[in-house]
Amino acid sequence: MSLTRFSSDGHLAPPGVSLPKVTMPALSEMKRQGKPISALTAYDYATARLVDEAGIDLILVGDSLAMVVLGQENTLAVTVDEMLHHTRAVRRAVHRALVVADMPFGSYHGTVADGLANAVRFVKEAGAEAVKIEGPRVELVRALTEAEISVVCHLGLTPQSVHRMGGYRVQGRTVDAALQLQADAFALAAAGAGAIVLEGIPREAAAAITAGLPIPTVGIGAGPDCDGQILVFHDLVNLSFSPAAKFVRRYADASALFRAAIEHYREDVEHRTFPSDEECYHLPEPARKLLQTSSGGAGPEVSADNGGRLQ
Ligand code: KIV
Repeated sequence: MSLTRFSSDGHLAPPGVSLPKVTMPALSEMKRQGKPISALTAYDYATARLVDEAGIDLILVGDSLAMVVLGQENTLAVTVDEMLHHTRAVRRAVHRALVVADMPFGSYHGTVADGLANAVRFVKEAGAEAVKIEGPRVELVRALTEAEISVVCHLGLTPQSVHRMGGYRVQGRTVDAALQLQADAFALAAAGAGAIVLEGIPREAAAAITAGLPIPTVGIGAGPDCDGQILVFHDLVNLSFSPAAKFVRRYADASALFRAAIEHYREDVEHRTFPSDEECYHLPEPARKLLQTSSGGAGPEVSADNGGRLQ
């Protein structure tokens, strides 16, 4: 195991200056002031650190981890315990962004009491600052709000409904369907939702919902008129091993970067150019000589020792 540690130097704020924590009310204030909300998924400590240090406002531990981290076909199989495990890792990394945990399929589809009990686990056991649920579950949103749990809702293309929708299809494509989404969004806001993710709906529908809603909308495949935007981390950096959807913009090619680094490492191992002598620990000179004499060998060409400290 490497002894590498993550330094705390990378944070945006200078030492001693802490950036204000993003809270659910702060997101509403951003909407009021017309400031765009940036959001991204993260599923582990390292990527959550990068996302937080880059100044992203909201980090979603999305159930998309089922697909992009665990290699599953859709989001349906991921469990509460798996989501808790990843939410804890993200929570440890994040100082500024609002950490939202996605509640997985089946964890809130039964009784309101069951949904509430599972949501409490995300707050209590993993440090989530809000939970996200898919669909117009007004009663559950009301119960969560009464229990002091902040809720982000998710409307439009809701991936946990993949079988009912018959695939990942754009939703709200007729006037009636768009008006239904708008009515759902208003009902969820009235029940206490703090924000609404709008996924895979026409730009015009998202704009109409966003304009009248008292809480922020965060879009993914819903156009630029939402109050904020969210993408899946692995899509943003080309680590998802699938063709990008129309709404994805690739900002980096981590696949190419990692592939080149891994191939370079393999070549160095195969050519015995890794590790070099500078990358070795050494015995002190007297012990080295004694070992050479006792073992009868010439021993390798070595450089100066660093006193045995791990660096
Ligand atoms: O799970 C996820 O990543 C999501 C986003 C796409 C909003 O729900």
